[in-house]
Amino acid sequence: MNVAIDGPAGAGKSTIAKKCAKELGLIYVDTGAMYRAVALYLLGSGIDVNDAEKVSETCTGADVDIRYEDGVQNVYLNGENVTGRLREEAVGNTASVTSVVPKVREHLFSLQRGLADRGGVIMDGRDIGTVVMPDAEVKIYLTASSEVRAKRRVLELEAKGEHPDFEEVKKDIEDRDYRDMHREISPLKQADDAVLVDTSDMTIEQVVEKICSLCDKFLKQKK
Ligand code: DC
Repeated sequence: MNVAIDGPAGAGKSTIAKKCAKELGLIYVDTGAMYRAVALYLLGSGIDVNDAEKVSETCTGADVDIRYEDGVQNVYLNGENVTGRLREEAVGNTASVTSVVPKVREHLFSLQRGLADRGGVIMDGRDIGTVVMPDAEVKIYLTASSEVRAKRRVLELEAKGEHPDFEEVKKDIEDRDYRDMHREISPLKQADDAVLVDTSDMTIEQVVEKICSLCDKFLKQKK
């Protein structure tokens, strides 16, 4: 069984997918981390990341590799483990800009498809149910209001000792939503056969339970 989870930034996709993976015995594949690794490479290359032509030419130099070590996904960029550097705000915002470039998407698609073909994965991103795994047995579109997502992000940053401005965080999230939903290739949208889960008023446990029960339902139907 493959499970696809799509949704906007800050909806809780990775937290939820990791927990569901554990419950269901699936391998968690975080495709956002792949786009972040390419963004990290582009930021380090000194090019203007808003210049699509330059991004297109340069991105193929990013050799992204996913390795599972002690059951955890580690992302290697040209042989270096960069997992710990991918969650920075600048990397996420750049990934949202550079992921609109077709060459960047092409570059990562075969890696994602290869993991999907092995089966038994729960993969999250923006275009998983629509493009990468249109054949996934269970598809979820996970969302929450931008207000709630910004609040969660502020709490996360505060826990790291930062002092973010709520309005700024909210604007960043809304800008990313706009870019992710309005790009020409593989925009973020709910697949026709995806189940919508709005987590605004749900706890993490409730969301995990909901998704696991959808998966159980599928497995029982199959028997
Ligand atoms: O899920 P995330 O915040 O780690 O993703 C970072 C950016 O990568 C996101 O703003 C858009 C892009 N992305 C994408 O275009 N397609 C995916 N399947 C996953 C992420």
